[in-house]
Amino acid sequence: MKILVTGGAGFIGSHIAEAYRDAGHEVVVLDTLVSGSRENIPAGVRFVEADIRDHHIKDFFISENFDAVNHHAALVSVPESYREPVEYASVNVAGTVSLFHAAAECGVRRFIFASTGVLYAESDELPYAETHPLAPLDPYGASKLAAEQFIATMSARYPAMEIVTLRYGNVYGPRQRVYGEGNLVAVCAAKLCRGEQPTIFGDGTHTRDYVFVGDVAELNTLLLNSPVVGTFNVGTGIERSVLEIYREVAHAVGVEPAPVFGPPRSEQAHIALSPVALHQATGWRPLTTLAEGIRQTVAWFCARTTPTNAHASSPKHSFRNTPADSSAAGVGD
Ligand SMILES: NC(=O)c1ccc[n+]([C@@H]2O[C@H](COP(=O)([O-])OP(=O)(O)OC[C@H]3O[C@@H](n4cnc5c(N)ncnc54)[C@H](O)[C@@H]3O)[C@@H](O)[C@H]2O)c1
Repeated sequence: MKILVTGGAGFIGSHIAEAYRDAGHEVVVLDTLVSGSRENIPAGVRFVEADIRDHHIKDFFISENFDAVNHHAALVSVPESYREPVEYASVNVAGTVSLFHAAAECGVRRFIFASTGVLYAESDELPYAETHPLAPLDPYGASKLAAEQFIATMSARYPAMEIVTLRYGNVYGPRQRVYGEGNLVAVCAAKLCRGEQPTIFGDGTHTRDYVFVGDVAELNTLLLNSPVVGTFNVGTGIERSVLEIYREVAHAVGVEPAPVFGPPRSEQAHIALSPVALHQATGWRPLTTLAEGIRQTVAWFCARTTPTNAHASSPKHSFRNTPADSSAAGVGD
């Protein structure tokens, strides 16, 4: 199968491109490198440095004749989406509409779209099923919901096209950036590996649903040849608190620093996504345990890190605190 992976130089997209290549598919990555990087692009995968909003996108589809599109390109930072709402609308909404339209007009059979679990209305009815009311709290979530709605509305004109929308929980793993959605594991791993202390915004009781990127790549591979269509949560249904994640990462690094708390941020207190519909439709389950996923993530971060204080390489010492910043360890962005 010939597949276009947009955002394939980024965190999740690069794992998917790799899994597709390993499954024997012909893979083309399209990415601007605005947040992705060349070194993430797997060997043997063709790279096209371009914007999903490029005016020639339809010509590109005509010349390439793709069987499937896996659309992971997006701007992904909640705080940035408040500062740059027009750019978020432009890339995440107009860019997605343009890409989808070109793919549909050019006969692409299957379209997989990366959405998010942060578009559900806050409530106590956890874990959220796909039927839970939608009410995103920030421009990033709003842009994903708008893109979902455009795709759903336009799809009526292309009945032969198979469309799958995936509402991810907090995806974590090697290659994750410290800026972006669902970045708590990455922030804690990057800082603790350097011998620095992340700041936890709030009291650490906020919860999210964590899914390992290897499981997500496997799901995207399974979905290529599956007849399944529709909108699905991608999560475990299990809430993990900020403190629980922090302690798990610290344990994997081999340190025991006491957490440092900063002021709370405005964000949903609790999110967990019901995995039932996706499991019933596909049989897929995320099989990587949190401990194992964090172990692999920490190994990746620590291998790329030079400790910045003397204690960092000798476990069980306290850590230097670094000031709170937009990448510090809250949840959800
Ligand atoms: N990481 C998570 O926990 C999470 C959770 C929910 C949803 N998602 C979604 O998954 C997708 C991938 O997220 P990620 O965490 O890998 O982020 P990422 O920033 O690592 O990847 C996004 C990629 O898109 C590229 N990109 C941005 N604008 C582009 C444009 N106009 N044209 C072409 N390429 C462009 C970036 O350069 C980057 O390589 C996004 O759509 C995101 O909204 C991620």
